[in-house]
Amino acid sequence: MNDKFKLPARYGSGEKSVWVEYIQLAAEYKPAVNLGQGFPDYHAPEHVTKALAEITVGENPLLNQYTRGFGHPRLVQNLAKVYSPLIGRELDPFNEILVTSGAYEALFSAILGHVDKGDEVIVIEPFFDCYDFMIRSAGGVPKFIPLTPKSTGGQITSSDWVLNEKDLSSLFNSRTKMLILNTPHNPLGKVFTAQELETIANLCKKHNVLCLSDEVYEWIVYKPHKHIRIATLPGMWERTITIGSAGKTFSVTGWKTGWAYGPADLMRNLQVVHQNCVYTCCTPIQEAVARSFEFELARYNTPDCYFFSLARELVSKRDYLVKVLKENGFNPTVPDGGYFIIADWTNLENKIDLKSEADKYKDYRFTKKLAKEAGVLTIPPSAFYSEEHKHLGENFARFCFIKKDENLALTEKLLKEWNAKK
Ligand SMILES: Cc1ncc(COP(=O)(O)O)c(C=O)c1O
Repeated sequence: MNDKFKLPARYGSGEKSVWVEYIQLAAEYKPAVNLGQGFPDYHAPEHVTKALAEITVGENPLLNQYTRGFGHPRLVQNLAKVYSPLIGRELDPFNEILVTSGAYEALFSAILGHVDKGDEVIVIEPFFDCYDFMIRSAGGVPKFIPLTPKSTGGQITSSDWVLNEKDLSSLFNSRTKMLILNTPHNPLGKVFTAQELETIANLCKKHNVLCLSDEVYEWIVYKPHKHIRIATLPGMWERTITIGSAGKTFSVTGWKTGWAYGPADLMRNLQVVHQNCVYTCCTPIQEAVARSFEFELARYNTPDCYFFSLARELVSKRDYLVKVLKENGFNPTVPDGGYFIIADWTNLENKIDLKSEADKYKDYRFTKKLAKEAGVLTIPPSAFYSEEHKHLGENFARFCFIKKDENLALTEKLLKEWNAKK
């Protein structure tokens, strides 16, 4: 009886989810600050949240009903307006864009829609943890390659984490169907350079491989770094599916609205998956995201445009948390983009009794201890590595800094007090 109802084999052992586990940890221990999950603990721009409030009680009752399955017309038209100039081609809103239930579903539809049994998919580590599961449930075989830190002697930044080109090219073969790129990168904050993207693009073209480019942090890039869309590199449009997120763009992660764009022939496969599992996404939220894009497009060339003001606002939070971490015995990697900091905690190892936690990986034990003793919740980065490379993440903890200044100040106080007791 029990065996009959076990998890289907295509889902593997049903790997535990770091998110489920750490949300539970937060509920149980109520740490004073939660720098775990990637979302702001303060309000999104007022025009964004007001738009949604107005839509739901507004004059048009149909904005609370089903809309076009592949994307609400006003939203896909605005997405085409935003991205066409950025990618240097006119996007067809009705055939080249799909609106999804968060970037998560865009990843799901792209992977399930393109990866077949036995296909290999190259995944750069550390990686957003669902990639692995999605590839395997499609019958694909993930092939992992880690970004590794060059030793600099000085302050390490996310651009010091690099791919070994030889190792990367050795992963490509006739079975390779797709490579998943994430830039700006979660959790390292790495913003891939033109040269790094060119190397990846050349390999994809040489071996006729698709590139799935997860760019949910596209607007969160710190000067002088620049976000480059790999779809704009020569010969890459026709083999690239690019993913974005309203949650990350407008700081409303709970809205779970995302999209994918790319050439119509590649997008068709995503549409097939989407129409049979989600079919259509929430109408009032799509309408609100569309209006939010209109608002920002109207002030695109001003410093107030949220696409640019968000990174300006975050840079001081990043610098503050980097300073706090350094002063408290961590060795942080300064991120060039995104809103996470990976920090090496091994200088603190002698201050903490890791044996009292039962987890297999040291970063799980460290982050649990830190949550319980210092009241600061972070995420263990080994969750973003394949089984064979988990040791590469074990010396780190991931801190999210899109948090109120007062909560970052509280983090400083808690870490200082914790250090003083040791
Ligand atoms: C790299 C990356 N991709 C995709 C997502 C999922 O985005 P969404 O909340 O829009 O589903 C996240 C969320 O944290 C992410 O960090």
